[in-house]
Amino acid sequence: MARDRGMLRLVVTRMSRESAGIVSIELADATGRPLPAWEPGAHIDVQLITRMQRQYSLCGDPADLRSYRIAVLREDFSRGVSMYVHDFLHVGSVVHVRPPRNLFPVLPASEYLLLAAGIGITPLLPMARSLSRARAPWAMNYAVRDEANLPFASELESLGPAVTINAPGRAGRLDLAALLAAPHPGLGVYACGPARFIDGVVDAMGHWPSGSLHLERFEPKPVVALPNAPFTVHCARSNLDVEVPAERTMLQAITDVDLPVTGSCLRGVCGSCAVRVLDGEVEHRDSLTTDPDSRVMYPCVSRARAARLTIDV
Ligand code: FES
Repeated sequence: MARDRGMLRLVVTRMSRESAGIVSIELADATGRPLPAWEPGAHIDVQLITRMQRQYSLCGDPADLRSYRIAVLREDFSRGVSMYVHDFLHVGSVVHVRPPRNLFPVLPASEYLLLAAGIGITPLLPMARSLSRARAPWAMNYAVRDEANLPFASELESLGPAVTINAPGRAGRLDLAALLAAPHPGLGVYACGPARFIDGVVDAMGHWPSGSLHLERFEPKPVVALPNAPFTVHCARSNLDVEVPAERTMLQAITDVDLPVTGSCLRGVCGSCAVRVLDGEVEHRDSLTTDPDSRVMYPCVSRARAARLTIDV
């Protein structure tokens, strides 16, 4: 399989309109070789000729490694990738993608509740399929504005009565506060959707046992950050001290000296720049960390709390 600086060189083999604003795209190796395996919840970083990268959840079938499927929402105020996909991408276009990574894996639980809104259905579709195949107890609520514009309608239909479509005229608006009022120990809740939807789920589950909620955000969550201050990051494996000025990110500073850390979203949502912290206090400013004492940090946005930090790079 053709690789270019760690990225897979794939071609678009199919494009389907799933709703007025969503197109799904299938990507395959040009020579027909099987693609790297993935699990439900995984995403790929997609780079188009615009050189911009964005993360898209894989929404096809993990058992079928002949192609990957992603779905792209047209966002009029996007950073260019979604407009490019909708307006210019076509069957036969070449697309570079990073192999799948899973920051939203399905963990063991006694039951599962999948909550999606809008394009947030994409990582949850393969989860629902695999839970259904495994005969695990699961249910899904999918909030959409307009039932007539329901993406993946036939696939959702085929999943049976475990799926509730919350739309005006169908099951009605999704009332998260009511649905999540009673904590249910052992229930794994997986949520994906726009920021307001995710914030609603987080608010509604504030009194649930920790570890019940698993999220994937598309947009960074609002963060109240300390003023930027300069610090030194000691890269232990490379035995190098790198100065991080107040006006640069730690990721910029360590890639400036050619250390092997790469980023993709640069907004603290994709996880691609993760580094292990060996010593020092971190101010986590990303949208992935749930434990403030986590020893994994995302240097595209997060910084040291003090003058020095040691990382395993
Ligand atoms: S580059 Fe995406 S989290 Fe840092």
